[in-house]
Amino acid sequence: MTPFQPAARGIDLIIRAERPGDREAVFAVNRDAFGSEFEPKLVDELRKTPAFIPELSLVATVDGVVAGYILFIRLVILKGPAECPALGLAPLAVAPPRQNRGIGTALVLAGLAAGERCGHRLVFVVGRPQYYGRFGFVAARVRGFEVAFPVPDDTFMVRELVPGAMQGIGGLVKHPIVLNS
Ligand SMILES: CC(C)(COP(=O)(O)OP(=O)(O)OC[C@H]1O[C@@H](n2cnc3c(N)ncnc32)[C@H](O)[C@@H]1OP(=O)(O)O)[C@@H](O)C(=O)NCCC(=O)NCCS
Repeated sequence: MTPFQPAARGIDLIIRAERPGDREAVFAVNRDAFGSEFEPKLVDELRKTPAFIPELSLVATVDGVVAGYILFIRLVILKGPAECPALGLAPLAVAPPRQNRGIGTALVLAGLAAGERCGHRLVFVVGRPQYYGRFGFVAARVRGFEVAFPVPDDTFMVRELVPGAMQGIGGLVKHPIVLNS
């Protein structure tokens, strides 16, 4: 991915693919944003799996320092014997002192654009509809998708990267680690 500078609120922001030397900073951003080591450890585990897509593991830097992170992994949608590929967005994190300045928005928009450029068609997320709704994510269950762990209907969301990509798909969305299979 070519690094680019999105419009953010008065800061020198660059979004680029994660590099090997970013690992510790990415860990810290996730830990500090979520207040837990669950998410950063999950990212470390995902890096070891085929679900990890280096081009879709993005950092946001402010003045050269990692201030935000977003990851899109490979998922599959199971429908009987058929499998359909998709992306899963998680986690998204912005360092607490840098929040509410457009960094999360820039990461989501850059990630969706990169996913589309890489030829992906659908993205799932489990998160707050008040946040993800602004990027075009909509409730997934009512559109025929299911996930094998308990989540409230409105937090399990999907977004098309290609118009019409949801049509005729439906099925069980399988996560490489959370579903443990
Ligand atoms: C959620 C998060 C990534 C947003 O990043 P950010 O850079 O602070 O967000 P932006 O500046 O792009 O957007 C700010 C907007 O998001 C809203 N927002 C921030 N966090 C939110 C949340 N958890 N739920 C709903 N809305 C949220 C703000 O109210 C603000 O709304 P406005 O534009 O109408 O004023 C960041 O707050 C974060 O890292 N939170 C902790 C980890 C987390 O919850 N990750 C996402 C899981 S759903």
